[in-house]
Amino acid sequence: MYTVKDNHISVCHVVALPYPGRGHINPMLNLCKLLSSKKPDNTLLITTVVTEEWHGFIGSDPKPDNIRFATLPNAIPSELVRANDFPGFVEAVNTKLEAPFEQLVDRLEPPVSAIVADPYVVWAVRVGNRRNIPVAALWPMPASVFSFFHHFELLKQNGHFPLDVSERGDEIVDYIPGLGTTSIADLPTIFSADGLKTLDRAIEAVSGVADKAQYLLSTSVYELEAQVFDTLKAKFALPVYPIGPSIPHLELSKSPPTDHNDLNNWLDSQPKHSVLYISLGSFLSVSKSQMDEIVAGVRNSGFRFLWVARGDASKLKDSVGDKGLVVPWCDQLRVLCHDSIGGFWSHCGWNSTLEAVYAGLPVLTCPIFWDQMPISKQIVEDWKIGYRVLKKKVGAAEHEHLVSREEIAELVQRYMDLESKEGKEMRKRAKQLQETCHGAIAKGGSSDKNLDAFLEDISRGHH
Ligand code: UDX
Repeated sequence: MYTVKDNHISVCHVVALPYPGRGHINPMLNLCKLLSSKKPDNTLLITTVVTEEWHGFIGSDPKPDNIRFATLPNAIPSELVRANDFPGFVEAVNTKLEAPFEQLVDRLEPPVSAIVADPYVVWAVRVGNRRNIPVAALWPMPASVFSFFHHFELLKQNGHFPLDVSERGDEIVDYIPGLGTTSIADLPTIFSADGLKTLDRAIEAVSGVADKAQYLLSTSVYELEAQVFDTLKAKFALPVYPIGPSIPHLELSKSPPTDHNDLNNWLDSQPKHSVLYISLGSFLSVSKSQMDEIVAGVRNSGFRFLWVARGDASKLKDSVGDKGLVVPWCDQLRVLCHDSIGGFWSHCGWNSTLEAVYAGLPVLTCPIFWDQMPISKQIVEDWKIGYRVLKKKVGAAEHEHLVSREEIAELVQRYMDLESKEGKEMRKRAKQLQETCHGAIAKGGSSDKNLDAFLEDISRGHH
């Protein structure tokens, strides 16, 4: 239990407010642990604020003494998530939790020194501003996506809004500062007609950072997106601190949890770099007919696999063959860093992507929506450490986008081939990115220095 032992020591009390979703809570918790590891004495206290439901999921996870939880009421019906009602979910987060959060901030002891909030919790900056508490926005997606949102007006001015992916997906966008060139099909789907219901909130999130926050923290690594960061730093008056990868790498030095022994034993018994790890994300998935082709393609490729699938795991087990394991959940970063893993088939969530880079793995990309399109483009075209499985939905009718089982089996074989010239070069680039990423978090690396600078700023009350 954390206690403020000495009243003479001034305690920097950080309130961390993640967005209620796994891909947002994980990087926030990791940032809390990183900050805590830098100040293991009692000069830093972190209160992480989550809904009661999320507290049930993560409240008993091990954490350092100077991190504690506080909860907000369960005002966001889980059914919305299960029903894939994304706009409904976003609306509930936006309208139900601001007042309870503000009352909590008023009650907390010692008084709050800084709020670190996910910018998608759009009211957090308002609360900080009203209470005269500095707010650091933790951007949980690539900096490039922040820049797309920030320069949204340019899309309009160039006649590219709303995005018309099927008719104009091949057109090039080359006017976003710091971003090089990208095709319309690789922009975040939120700019297309389907995403418009949530676009206003994303734009509000980003403009809230620019206009009202005191710091911009990013889960990315400076060297991975240097041009974008340079552009943002030149443009913004507030400090921009890339502190990533904000992934659970500190946990890796601890012994593996015992409840996953079967999985660990299985991984230990596989040949080096032989297993394809597959995780297609939790929110939206591919069509049933595409899923059937994926399952058959993986089975026919002949490669070993470890497949994380919630919900329909038992059905998948029956149809995918016996060269692998299907599990409902795993300690993903630990798995990716295991010697037996040779590849990662990913939906291109940003955290998963950072974890792939950290583990030095190339990626088979399967982007579905939101920021996953530009992330896939970053992986395949910019970093050149992967292949894309699904076709871009440009021009052709829906059924022509279906990737067949034969194509998938062939792609998996090409991707898992460690001996081909192409495979060796791709893996070499993945290792180079891995070194960059490890260098950034090592003592004196870019992310490490940014964390120090941020801690010093908030400890001294600078903003
Ligand atoms: C969401 C959006 O989908 C994504 O586009 C955005 O970039 C972040 O928010 P999510 O779909 O949850 O993210 O994916 P991702 O960002 O990859 O985060 C998933 C997290 O869950 C990762 O940290 C991953 O390691 C973890 N995970 C997943 C596990 O630990 N075990 C699993 O079995 C599956």
